[in-house]
Amino acid sequence: MSDKVKVTIDGITVEVEPGTSILNAARQIGGDIVPPAMCYYSKLEGSGGKCRTCLVKVSKGSEKDPRPMPKLVASCRIGVMDGMEVQNITSPEVIEARKGVVEILLINHPLDCPICDQAGECHLQDLSYAHGVGNSRYEFERRTFDKIDIGDKIQLHMTRCILCYRCVYVANQITDNRLHGILGRGDASEISTYIEKAIDNDFSGNIIDVCPVGALTDKTFRFKNRVWFTKPVDAHRDCPTCKGNVTLWYKGDEVLRVTGRKDQFGEVEDFICNTCRFETKNTSSWIIEGPRHIAQTSVISANHYEFVPLPVIKENQVLIEANKVEFERATKI
Ligand code: SF4
Ligand code: FES
Repeated sequence: MSDKVKVTIDGITVEVEPGTSILNAARQIGGDIVPPAMCYYSKLEGSGGKCRTCLVKVSKGSEKDPRPMPKLVASCRIGVMDGMEVQNITSPEVIEARKGVVEILLINHPLDCPICDQAGECHLQDLSYAHGVGNSRYEFERRTFDKIDIGDKIQLHMTRCILCYRCVYVANQITDNRLHGILGRGDASEISTYIEKAIDNDFSGNIIDVCPVGALTDKTFRFKNRVWFTKPVDAHRDCPTCKGNVTLWYKGDEVLRVTGRKDQFGEVEDFICNTCRFETKNTSSWIIEGPRHIAQTSVISANHYEFVPLPVIKENQVLIEANKVEFERATKI
């Protein structure tokens, strides 16, 4: 007998290990039914449960107890039960609730995308396009903060922070010392600042990669370019500190920035060290693997060199000839 449990999400059934969260079960199915996640990060233990963007409706609790759950639940926090039935994009209630969550996230977040370095790869920007409304009902003064330097390579712009806690988990889990955290509660919460001189260890730069918005940015890349004008390329090197698997972001021949490689859910595959990220911005230090695959829904893929032909194009000589330029471009970096 299989030890796995069956869960049905938006009409698609999948078998997963007991203890899997609804969100991770949806990720095993993939596609549009995967709830958005602004705070959960599979590589950071304990993350999730802060932002509520991953809300879903459990219309059947389990085979043993088929009663629906009385309220929408955070899918990153609730484990699946055998026979559970879940609705995400098929539930108008969930879609409506998600609009409310986006409105709350945007209460204090400034709409400064035109000047924000995260534009084009900001999860809140994507979420706002999908679920945002054109205006806000909030009439009170918004929170603003001065920008803070966290060491000489990272800048914290707390005004943009959505308090997802991911950077706090990075500080806790993959750096040697607990260097920063969240002070205060409710609308007084903020990422603490007494670390501004202190974050100084080999993996601190990963707080930039995990931040879903533009609150933590790479000072060596700030205002240098828009991400959609750069070309992401996978590369590796023999690094004594981390695995050395990165994405290099090129403009012409120049490496403008180095980041971890992000998967389809926007999470880095491996955390990288600061030497790879900040100190190794030259092609000669890297072995280039090839273009980084960027989802076609991303603005970064606009005018992209990557060409993913339909099978019929690859099999038909006339279509191959008609797409010659694209085929050639796909082999160049
Ligand atoms: S700074 Fe970024 S990663 Fe840290 S809590 Fe704020 S939004 Fe999350
Ligand atoms: S991703 Fe589930 S609450 Fe934030």
